[in-house]
Amino acid sequence: MRITCTVNGEPQRADDVWEGESLLYVLRERLGFPGSKNACEQGECGSCTVYLDGVLACSCLVAAGQAQGRDVRTVEGLAAGDELSGIQQAFLETGAVQCGFCTPGLVVAAADLLRRTASPSDDEIREALSGNLCRCTGYAKIVDAVRLAAERA
Ligand code: FES
Ligand code: FES
Repeated sequence: MRITCTVNGEPQRADDVWEGESLLYVLRERLGFPGSKNACEQGECGSCTVYLDGVLACSCLVAAGQAQGRDVRTVEGLAAGDELSGIQQAFLETGAVQCGFCTPGLVVAAADLLRRTASPSDDEIREALSGNLCRCTGYAKIVDAVRLAAERA
């Protein structure tokens, strides 16, 4: 089947999509958006988090056909060209990135939190990121990154 949707503001089309393919697969393998990661492909880790019509979703759990005609925003869409967004820059500066597999999903989820809550408490940060698993950092530096981005905003 053919899928048409908008990704990061640009119209996209994927042909010959199998009905069992996920939105994550289509983004990564067909449309050239490898930012979203496939760490579990079971909806457990959040590394594939994207916006779907402005709502956070695990793209590994979204059938490609469900994205037909909809608006998708990936971690690539948070930056302005080569200029990182505030939350992306903060992740770099605080050392919140180790292997980086969890980072795209955490960045999208953190950006969503900061969009809703300008100055989140540590508990609010941890709650907002509770669906995103990191195997490396112990989360302290991730919370630091979100706090830094909130202070700068
Ligand atoms: S890859 Fe989608 S939740 Fe883990
Ligand atoms: S930095 Fe490795 S899983 Fe989070």
